[in-house]
Amino acid sequence: MAFIVGENCIKCKFTDCVEVCPVDCFYEGPNFLVIHPDECIDCALCEPECPAEAIFEEDDVPANQKHFIELNAELAEIWPNITEMKDHAPDAEEWNGVPDKFKLLEK
Ligand code: SF4
Ligand code: F3S
Repeated sequence: MAFIVGENCIKCKFTDCVEVCPVDCFYEGPNFLVIHPDECIDCALCEPECPAEAIFEEDDVPANQKHFIELNAELAEIWPNITEMKDHAPDAEEWNGVPDKFKLLEK
């Protein structure tokens, strides 16, 4: 079991989540973050930190976002590790809650 980053992180990427992770298991792409499922210890600390409410426990991933479970595992093997919060994009707030952002994911 692991926590999963879901669709609303895309183009928001606030990075508050990485500050609290005790095992540094977040990985960063151009406009999205993922959690490495084999490294996550299920502590749940990151979930309430995300201003976009984009983090879910694996069993609670919404039905229309189940593909993000595999996506987190796949991209965590490719993307670099991120351990410190950084400034988000100037338009990040405008993207918070916008539906259907999956097509905007940059790999
Ligand atoms: Fe890190 Fe804990 Fe979140 Fe897993 S649940 S990504 S270990 S903060
Ligand atoms: Fe994304 Fe939320 Fe972290 S928007 S980068 S999961 S704080």
